Amino acid sequence: MKRYVFVGASNRAMGMYVKLYAEEFKDYAELAGVFDINSVRAGILGKACGNIPVYGDFDRMIRETKPDAVIVTTVDRYHDEYIVKALEAGCDAITEKPMTIDAEKSRAILEAEKRTGRKVIVTFNCRYMPYVARVKELLKGGAIGKILNADLEWMLDRSHGADYFRRWHRYMRNSGGLLVHKATHHFDMINWWLDQNPEEVFAFGTRNFYGPTREQRGERCFTCPYKNKCEFFWDIKADDFSRRFYLEAEKEDGYFRDGCVFAGDIDIYDTMSVNVKYSGGAFLSYSLVAYSPYEGWKVSFNGTEGRLEAEEFGSGIRRDEPNGQIRLYNRRGECTTYDMMKNNGAHGGGDEELLRDIFIGGMSDPLGKKSGSFSGAMSVLIGAAANISIKTKKPVNIKELLY
Ligand SMILES: NC(=O)c1ccc[n+]([C@@H]2O[C@H](COP(=O)([O-])OP(=O)(O)OC[C@H]3O[C@@H](n4cnc5c(N)ncnc54)[C@H](O)[C@@H]3O)[C@@H](O)[C@H]2O)c1
Repeated sequence: MKRYVFVGASNRAMGMYVKLYAEEFKDYAELAGVFDINSVRAGILGKACGNIPVYGDFDRMIRETKPDAVIVTTVDRYHDEYIVKALEAGCDAITEKPMTIDAEKSRAILEAEKRTGRKVIVTFNCRYMPYVARVKELLKGGAIGKILNADLEWMLDRSHGADYFRRWHRYMRNSGGLLVHKATHHFDMINWWLDQNPEEVFAFGTRNFYGPTREQRGERCFTCPYKNKCEFFWDIKADDFSRRFYLEAEKEDGYFRDGCVFAGDIDIYDTMSVNVKYSGGAFLSYSLVAYSPYEGWKVSFNGTEGRLEAEEFGSGIRRDEPNGQIRLYNRRGECTTYDMMKNNGAHGGGDEELLRDIFIGGMSDPLGKKSGSFSGAMSVLIGAAANISIKTKKPVNIKELLY
């Protein structure tokens, strides 16, 4: 049985790994330790894993537990540091998305993997969602011939979208902004669907909705004088988990989970538009907003033999819409429709299948869902290139960032 340790006692570690591990995987893998700079959160995660050892020192955890792999579930800006340390200690690394936040850190991970001969897995759970996988299957099967163009529109609603402006994600230095932190999922899906590598990127990005767009704002919701009238008020005490995991842990590191979304020092964008040219000749138009009245995405592909459209909506007034649909148009304009059942598991059922692949393994993978460092880097680099392009107002070449 393989041994795993965690870096980062995060909500993600608790919600995905620990919960599903306890339900399904404890006979296949051993969770041997957890490291976090915050001992309150680390203690809660350690307890939830059946009282595994809790560490305040990463190197000591590696020395004492001798794991096969390190699961990286901490703040994005630190992923590279722990991935490289894990590889150099002779372990594999299983990292949450985004693999890292910029080109320099991506290169460091790729080089460390080469140098050590160990392996990095990037947990792109979206690839495991039945809906996303079905689109891949159709495109891979040649349903629309050679793909020449893709269009992806992604909408985060005012609950999910706002959440990135409350805490560490809201600073570029921590997350690379939403074009890295969030869009790494989307760019990976497109890269995978197209089966082409991104070559050149041009982007626009701005922040006009969150940040200092209103006078009536506070430091955080908990102490805000406007809490009774602000539609973005989020009560950190309302549920037991948030109170114990974040509020009661603040005294150690000052991490506020409920920062004001209108804070003046927020430096990530809330409105983004990106164009990408791919190695096989396809063009992508992508947009992301973080304040839509409902959550969802729409994608379309045009190819030599037809057009494929897919979409999914998940909140607000569109929450109760029937199952999703994939529409496939052939070159004569005739349409075949595939009804896609809504899957109620975490991340559309993706998390569970992904963990089965990691902890049990041996599953056949005809679509190539399991992702490594190259896919991790390619999706990060589109976002990193977009961030550079927004600043310089010029197109950015991905290869120049990579080597
Ligand atoms: N795949 C998905 O769909 C998905 C969903 C949510 C989050 N995530 C990813 O999971 C990761 C965690 O996100 P979250 O929102 O659950 O985080 P979180 O805010 O709940 O927790 C972050 C943890 O990192 C710890 N930390 C901070 N600095 C550290 C350091 N230097 N070394 C070690 N630990 C440190 C904090 O104390 C905290 O416990 C992120 O990389 C995020 O992108 C992925």
